[in-house]
Amino acid sequence: MNPSDAQHAPSLATQSDSSVPYNLHHAMLDDRKAQASAAYALRFGEPGFLDATKLYIEQVYDGYTAEDQSVWRELYERQEPHLAEHASKIWLSGARAIGLTADRIPNLASINANLRPLTGWQSRAVGGFIAARPFFACLARREFPTTVVLRPRRCMDYLPEPDIFHDVFGHVPLHADPAFADFLQEYGSAALIADTLETERLARLFWFTVEFGLIRESGELKVYGAGLISSPGESRHCLTSHEVERRPFNLEEVCETKFEIDHYQPTLFVLESFEQLRDAMRSYANTVRAAHGSNAPKSGAILRSGAIA
Ligand SMILES: [Fe+2]
Repeated sequence: MNPSDAQHAPSLATQSDSSVPYNLHHAMLDDRKAQASAAYALRFGEPGFLDATKLYIEQVYDGYTAEDQSVWRELYERQEPHLAEHASKIWLSGARAIGLTADRIPNLASINANLRPLTGWQSRAVGGFIAARPFFACLARREFPTTVVLRPRRCMDYLPEPDIFHDVFGHVPLHADPAFADFLQEYGSAALIADTLETERLARLFWFTVEFGLIRESGELKVYGAGLISSPGESRHCLTSHEVERRPFNLEEVCETKFEIDHYQPTLFVLESFEQLRDAMRSYANTVRAAHGSNAPKSGAILRSGAIA
């Protein structure tokens, strides 16, 4: 079994060291800025290292080669027919709304020009994995840290880290949906102030929704999680396999369900709507804020100041 033909949860990876993946040169990265971003991310949360905007780099679009464009097209076209039938209508309409096409690797500036008027979300370029806390700070600002490197052809089916196909094709279309958009900001805002136990629970929530979520639409199961959307193998397996248990979404149950990353998911959770997810998250976020009292930064303050404190 493919251990992971999805690249998921970059934010929820174990606190990374400075070696991934910034030690690799990519033409679509400004290496100097990428290194500075990585160094800042490692210290994020310390005094003087609280500005999420310092994590962002430029997408050097001219750095993508004809081979990169070809890889993108192939990745896109092999998923498109399956998703047209089996992806959430919210993902499908979001992909159209932000201007995703098979023809070319997305330019984040263009994606953002389409996305901002819809929900205020933006995709901001990063070099690769960033740790949990800075990732949450970005989400609280309605900004999605977006990997701009693209996998090489030899890794079409397996990449242990996120790339632009996973991050933009997989994640960003849902950011055009108002309910999902509000859920994700609420998630980031709560996760930013969560303690260790809560962070572990929230990691599970992220996993079973943002990465591997299913939704029921007009009586049919559809995929919406980015780990499923961007995975040719698991996006089919999750809907058809008798080995997959598909449970109704319940936030408390999700938060208590452990997961493993090295095989197809044996348990998935099914939403009835993204409003259900948003409302459950709001309720949970309120309990997190109540537990942390005045220490909790307010998401409005984050949005205004561009920093978390
Ligand atoms: Fe992901």
